[in-house]
Amino acid sequence: MHVTHLSLADFRSYARVEVPLDPGVTSFVGPNGQGKTNLIEAVGYLATLASHRVSSDAPLVRVGAPRAVVRAAVTQGDRSQLVELELNPGKANRARINRSSQVRPRDVLGIVRTVLFAPEDLALVKGDPGDRRRFMDELITARSPRMAGVRSDYERVLKQRNTLLKSAAMARRHGGAKSGADLSTLDVWDQHLARVGAELLFQRLELISVLQPLADKAYESLAPGGGPLALEYRSSADAAADAGTGVGPDGGTGGPTGREELYARLTAALAGARKQEIERGVTLVGPHRDELVLKLGQLPAKGYASHGESWSYALALRLASYELLRAEGSEPVLVLDDVFAELDARRRERLAELVAPGEQVLVTAAVDDDVPGVLTGARYAVSGGEVARV
Ligand SMILES: Nc1ncnc2c1ncn2[C@@H]1O[C@H](COP(=O)(O)OP(=O)(O)O)[C@@H](O)[C@H]1O
Ligand SMILES: [Mg+2]
Repeated sequence: MHVTHLSLADFRSYARVEVPLDPGVTSFVGPNGQGKTNLIEAVGYLATLASHRVSSDAPLVRVGAPRAVVRAAVTQGDRSQLVELELNPGKANRARINRSSQVRPRDVLGIVRTVLFAPEDLALVKGDPGDRRRFMDELITARSPRMAGVRSDYERVLKQRNTLLKSAAMARRHGGAKSGADLSTLDVWDQHLARVGAELLFQRLELISVLQPLADKAYESLAPGGGPLALEYRSSADAAADAGTGVGPDGGTGGPTGREELYARLTAALAGARKQEIERGVTLVGPHRDELVLKLGQLPAKGYASHGESWSYALALRLASYELLRAEGSEPVLVLDDVFAELDARRRERLAELVAPGEQVLVTAAVDDDVPGVLTGARYAVSGGEVARV
């Protein structure tokens, strides 16, 4: 798929901007702070309902404006669609498809598909477990938009269960007897958490099994002979079970595991962790506590890989995401935000060659020289809030 027109109102630094786009490569070039990333951040928002730079919507709305609107015309094969999102910080966002009456924002997921490369990607390798969980969950949602619902259900159940645990922890600390009613409510929330958690866990494990060979191959083409990569999923449920409840898991390795088995494993792990959870007042088991360990050779990349290796790893994960999405559905838009300036000459050249054939590639750079030669295409100069075709 590709975007044929992007239109922003009160988004970030833009009061209004209209950007017609063609398939193939388009680069946005201009000095820092002029609004290049703001443009592609809007494209990414349509694909994920989130920014790759901030976790809330408020900074996306132009200072002083009440709301922002992001609109894109999208073509896939011979079908064209218009998607529109209205961002209302503090209130519900609104969405429309083809100027229809309102739909839920999550109903637009899947129309715009992107794989975004950005300087922030280094956090995939060097950052907290949460950065890698978000990577998995966004990719799961891109593969299967209905997972947006599962993710938000999980967040909701987790929040409510934590509230219950917190009050149980308080009651305990103040010497009050834990009421049986509280604990039976907790049983119900355990089931909800295990049910929704098992679905999320199932999707993550499945994702990792298909992503692993693609990431390994991408790494090999970026840094020949530098691998192999191993993506290891560590489940908090297995850790809790191993910690001596006597529930014997198979360790989470070996063979695909079904949803029912994962449900049973989570339920058992929650039961085993309950005492500690009530002491600490927080949910200690579930996909929100899991870790994706990225290994390069025998060692975890985090803490061991060099800067260049870490970059190659992050790029390999993005390239693998791209291969996966294009193999499973329509080709996503490749977005490269200021990444070439971060890379040495060899990685820069290899990455450029790998992305150049994409159906649509959007590149930002501070200067023309940062855009590799193979990525010649349409050019826009971005400066002082103006986006002008060169
Ligand atoms: N909500 C906002 N309202 C107004 N200006 C904003 C907002 N968010 C960011 N900006 C401005 O946008 C500029 C950064 O734009 P950005 O696209 O990140 O630049 P670059 O061209 O370097 O990628 C900064 O000058 C910043 O002040
Ligand atoms: Mg930028």
